Amino acid sequence: MPLKKLQNISLKPYNTFGIDVKAKQMLIIQDIYELSEAFENVYKTGDSWLLLGGGSNVLFSNDFNGTIIKISFKTMQVLYKTAEHVYIRVNAGEEWDSFVGFCVENNWGGLENLSLIPGNAGASPIQNIGAYGVELKEHFHSLEAINIETGTIKRFKKKECNFGYRNSIFKTELKDKYVICSIIFKLDLHPKIRRSYNELDEYLTRNKITSPAIDDIRRAVIQIRKSKLPDPENLGNAGSFFKNPVVTKQKFEKIRNKFQNIPAYNYTKDYIKISAGWLIEQAGWKGCRKGDVGVYDKQALIIVNHGNAKGEEVLGLANRISKSVYDKFGIKLEPEVNIIES
Ligand code: FAD
Ligand code: EPU
Repeated sequence: MPLKKLQNISLKPYNTFGIDVKAKQMLIIQDIYELSEAFENVYKTGDSWLLLGGGSNVLFSNDFNGTIIKISFKTMQVLYKTAEHVYIRVNAGEEWDSFVGFCVENNWGGLENLSLIPGNAGASPIQNIGAYGVELKEHFHSLEAINIETGTIKRFKKKECNFGYRNSIFKTELKDKYVICSIIFKLDLHPKIRRSYNELDEYLTRNKITSPAIDDIRRAVIQIRKSKLPDPENLGNAGSFFKNPVVTKQKFEKIRNKFQNIPAYNYTKDYIKISAGWLIEQAGWKGCRKGDVGVYDKQALIIVNHGNAKGEEVLGLANRISKSVYDKFGIKLEPEVNIIES
């Protein structure tokens, strides 16, 4: 099959923010073997390039005057089972939530708390996706990636990925150096239920689900998410725009002296994670709107596009929010979303 190429296209359907920018070219990679042809193509033209999955964690600030390499190769494969675990490989272009659904249907435990996160499997290790008390790294075994410069395949074990809160080596030292092609997860054949996240526990209690199975957890997470997060089909967004800031215990105590109700969680022995949504709400931004850009009225950590917002307007609002949070609390917010400047 020839490599699928689209020229001079709108990226609106390819980013969940729904920003209507143009790209010079898009190459759709339906088979891993097409990657070398795609990179030959960009090297020949000298184009800048961007790898793209589901486009749910990117903000295009402007037209992208280069080539988008859209990773679309799919399939999942069970590799082997032991008495306790199943090892399953998923290709980068597989939709994340279809993969989670498949695991839950088979009663393989581990990823159910990560239900309904948009995007594709390939991007999931990049920011070590997390939700409702679980992070991807807990069930990650390894991944295979292609070195863009040499074309060689490398297997990364968990330790080599430097996973942290919304972070990994692929977002830092190795940013834009590798294409993640497939990931192996190690899932539990005898699932353990993780319900420690307050909102999840409260949901289960309220609905009298006393001994949940993993499909109950999946349903609960889906319900909670649907009730508070905007569906990008109806309202453009990329999930949390900022990370929850992590500060030293000393700094936290100083802030708490002034703001007693500040919601916060232990991160490590010496560090505390503070809720950015609360900081933004206290700074008065929740539900605000200017033109087509605004802050979601049910979750202040989410910047939304009401229709035809431009990338630079979203960035402008994000900067104003950061500044006002800094002025009020002395805390710097760091974007979680990948900002793409061409
Ligand atoms: P993209 O946005 O396409 O790409 C993200 C980055 O990864 C880009 O820098 C891109 O260049 C790079 N990339 C993509 N594919 C590859 C590849 N194969 N190899 C190398 N680099 C690649 N995230 C959470 O962690 N928890 C949540 O609860 C959560 N909730 C969300 C809710 C909503 C409504 C939305 C819109 C987003 C949410 N997100 C959440 C963020 C997002 O869904 C995740 O970060 C997701 O993993 C991004 O996947 P994607 O395929 O859309 O990545
Ligand atoms: N809060 C407010 N006002 C708000 C929003 C939140 O006061 O408008 C406070 C409340 O005290 C609330 C607390 O913040 O109890 C935590 O809120 P929530 O449970 O919604 O979680 P979050 O910290 O805002 C994080 C992730 C989400 C993930 C949820 C659930 C980050 C940056 N965000 O949000 O991930 O789904 O927890 O685990 O860590 C994403 O990364 O895109 C994303 C959506």
